[in-house]
Amino acid sequence: MSATLIDGKAFAAGLRTRIATEVAAMKAQGITPGLAVVLVGEDPASQVYVRSKGKQTLEVGMNSYEHKLPAETPEADLLALIERLNADPAVNGILVQLPLPAHMDEEAVINAILPEKDVDGFTVLNVGRLATGQKAMVPCTPLGCLMMLREHLGSLSGKNAVVIGRSNIVGKPMAQLLLRDSATVTIAHSRTQDLPGLCRTADILVAAVGRANFVKGDWVKPGATVIDVGINRTDDGLVGDVDFAEAEQVAGAITPVPGGVGPMTIACLLANTLTATARANG
Ligand code: GUN
Repeated sequence: MSATLIDGKAFAAGLRTRIATEVAAMKAQGITPGLAVVLVGEDPASQVYVRSKGKQTLEVGMNSYEHKLPAETPEADLLALIERLNADPAVNGILVQLPLPAHMDEEAVINAILPEKDVDGFTVLNVGRLATGQKAMVPCTPLGCLMMLREHLGSLSGKNAVVIGRSNIVGKPMAQLLLRDSATVTIAHSRTQDLPGLCRTADILVAAVGRANFVKGDWVKPGATVIDVGINRTDDGLVGDVDFAEAEQVAGAITPVPGGVGPMTIACLLANTLTATARANG
């Protein structure tokens, strides 16, 4: 048996088209959504992401404001920039690209962002809102995973979901979103006992560990839906956290790497910016 491919690239393209339509309607009313992206330092991967975010922001008709600061920028200068962006009515969303240089306090910087403009959903207020079922800005990567799961499965109610990885960016918010959709959720991590056995109980398996080909085919329950969040650079090119060749023989559906979760992340950033703009004007 061979699994259905969940085409994140096509899904993201469709989402961007819908966003562009809504942006055009807003512009007709004199409102142009604006996204500010802040990059500190010259991390090559971050530079690629930031360029891609700026390009796609413009493509859907939004304004893009890029702020590139040298790696040695004092934290106080970054905080002052965030204050200016918080106060700027043309800026509806603010994203500070992570990781930040070691001399900066990531938590302090993120929490300086006005929660209403926190399109990453990383501030403690948005994390708390998500956890307590209030209207929150939801982190982009897990939001993209949720959209693909809903599209593929319809209702997630009562499904057994296993999330491998407990990061603040993916694992924890992914678990909250699955719980909000009434899945039965287990978060697994490096200390989990019998991880293969646990994974075999999962109707929905989300891998976000950052280890190439970590999840093997015999960890996958036949017919399960597998979401691979990993993007690992290897000698064989980009590969996910799931051994795709093995898992696709067993799974019912699976996201490829590349072309699965990745494209959805930026599309969801644009969706969050649109939501922030609508809330600011509504
Ligand atoms: N670095 C890696 N992923 C992300 C993300 O989703 N948001 C931000 N701000 N930085 C990142």
